[in-house]
Amino acid sequence: MSLLEKKRVLLGVTGGIAAYKAAELVRLLTRAKAEVQVVMTPAASNFITPLTLQALSGRSVRQKMFDTEQEAVMGHIDLARWADLILVAPASADFISRLAVGMANDLLATLCLAATTPIALAPAMNREMWQNPATQANIQTLCHRGTKIWGPADGEQACGEIGPGRMLEPDELLEQIKHNLSPGVLHGVRVLLTAGPTREPIDPVRYVGNRSSGRMGYALASAFAAEGALVTMISGPVSLDTPEGVQRVDVETAVEMEHAVGSRVEQCDIFVACAAVADYRCDGVAKQKIKKLQERLELRLIRNPDILRQVAANEAAPFTVGFAAETERVAEQAEQKRRAKGVDMIAANLVAGERGGFESDENALTVLWEGGGSELPMMDKQRLAQSLVALIISKYHEKD
Ligand code: PMT
Repeated sequence: MSLLEKKRVLLGVTGGIAAYKAAELVRLLTRAKAEVQVVMTPAASNFITPLTLQALSGRSVRQKMFDTEQEAVMGHIDLARWADLILVAPASADFISRLAVGMANDLLATLCLAATTPIALAPAMNREMWQNPATQANIQTLCHRGTKIWGPADGEQACGEIGPGRMLEPDELLEQIKHNLSPGVLHGVRVLLTAGPTREPIDPVRYVGNRSSGRMGYALASAFAAEGALVTMISGPVSLDTPEGVQRVDVETAVEMEHAVGSRVEQCDIFVACAAVADYRCDGVAKQKIKKLQERLELRLIRNPDILRQVAANEAAPFTVGFAAETERVAEQAEQKRRAKGVDMIAANLVAGERGGFESDENALTVLWEGGGSELPMMDKQRLAQSLVALIISKYHEKD
């Protein structure tokens, strides 16, 4: 039986040159035995005819909001509920911005607003339009709401320019749909993850800390949960909401994090160390607030336990993924760390650049494993986390 048999895909087509690829996507979907309902925005019919998509999908294409005949067959709210997945491909900059602000000014935007099923977008536009801060802000808003963003790819564009903005190819979108509509690939897999900073107290009111916001780790926890994993996140102090489906354990210091991880690591299949754990803590914490009496104050620091190294050294170690925060020679230093700590995979980020790293909403990663690696370019942390989780899944299954 085909993975997509009887699955209902609502394919939204918006106005863009990539709309012609929607025909091939419909063909691939129906060949995989999915039921496909196409909904076009008014602009889309400038690029492809409804008749083509109707012939390929075997269903009449919906275009208008107030079409009495069509509404009588299936109202727009029911249409939104009918689908197992709504995919908008191509998703134009205009449609993305309308979705981000919650407009309901055509049939497709309205049913997306009414939908309770997952929504995925395959953006397609000129590279400057894609990189424009307005579009990026809209994408981020949508990501935060759980909308899946597939692509865009880098390459030659219809306008002759080269860069990010090409819609993913129909066969790539088909893979994403299959992946999305099959039960989570990590169904039943137990993931333990650390996130955020640690705080090492100096006295009752002061601490040694770092700039980790927790965003990267929380995005990872959310991406693992979306794949069906049972996720436990050991979190340092951050001001973020717990992602849906994630069990969160709050800690403050590296030693507390070590205990929280140590007592759970035997029950996990994958361990990811994304936390920025302080390498040192104060050798003795002052019981009272330290008074400002001296010109110089010296703090004596002692080494903290290396949680990642301890986990990887376990005889029955889970599949172990470390992070590496580097300010120079990222790949080289990360590879050294990977070997020294004995981990299966390391995800390295530059933390001294203008973009990415600590506190930022976006990041880029150099991911290394024994005999291979992959570059994940600068993107928002939600999408980056999804890409990293996809790599972890493939390597975890290989090792399994
Ligand atoms: O939280 P954000 O603002 O989103 O920022 C994300 C991030 C920059 C914090 C994240 O992407 C990241 O790089 N996390 C790891 C930070 C770090 O501590 O790197 P490191 O190179 O110092 O440590 C290497 C690895 O050992 C890490 O997996 C770390 O979790 C682990 N470690 C380090 C020290 C220690 N005592 N115990 C550990 O487990």
